[in-house]
Amino acid sequence: MVAMVSPPRGRFQIWRFVGKTGAVRHGLGIGQIDPQLGVCILVQRFEPMSDTTTDAKSVDIAALQADLADLLQLELDALPMYAMAISALRDQALRERLRTYRQDHERHARDLTALIRELGGAPPLLPHLPTGLFKLGVQMAGLPGGDRTILLGFVSNEWQSREKYGRYAAKPYPPAMSRLIASHAADEARHYDWACEALRDLGCGEETLAGQATQAFARMHGSVADILEGIGRASNEAMIRMRRRS
Ligand SMILES: [Fe+2]
Repeated sequence: MVAMVSPPRGRFQIWRFVGKTGAVRHGLGIGQIDPQLGVCILVQRFEPMSDTTTDAKSVDIAALQADLADLLQLELDALPMYAMAISALRDQALRERLRTYRQDHERHARDLTALIRELGGAPPLLPHLPTGLFKLGVQMAGLPGGDRTILLGFVSNEWQSREKYGRYAAKPYPPAMSRLIASHAADEARHYDWACEALRDLGCGEETLAGQATQAFARMHGSVADILEGIGRASNEAMIRMRRRS
């Protein structure tokens, strides 16, 4: 049965399910607040748990917060990179498309911030350090060469975003969080595919030397970023656990 909900703030609430034996699982639900009654109206709920599955499916709030913080920092890495690329691109259509995609990132950042707060955490305010700066540097390096090299830098960074979101989207989260991350992952895949297509139109497709070099660089650059950001995520999770215990 559903035993308790967190204060109904925003779209996300933490639910606590308690089985007959007292076993507990936490999860996220999407609800809304009735402006007149001031109560939470559940519009999406988890299936009631059986006592046998409760413990195995327990949600680790500290791990969730650390994952969300890592993704929020990924968004904070991306936003300055987008700003730089948009200001430097000469082609109006390319600029407009990146403006639209930047709005996706702004929405992602808002949603992740809200969800971290709903889970009782403190959203990070800064990008990944130092990898956020590396990503900006990659984008900056493309500026002197015009639209082609700007997009080559852009696609290198987007590759890491797509891969990282893809990995997180494959993890077993509570349904509302799963849906949110899956929708962000789909956005990132769309951004990356568009950038590859735009490069193809500019004569830098994956079959070209420049395209292959960019792919190789993206994998190397992205893998290094993943390692460093993974270390940062693990230490953040340890800090969150300490704070939750104190
Ligand atoms: Fe993107």
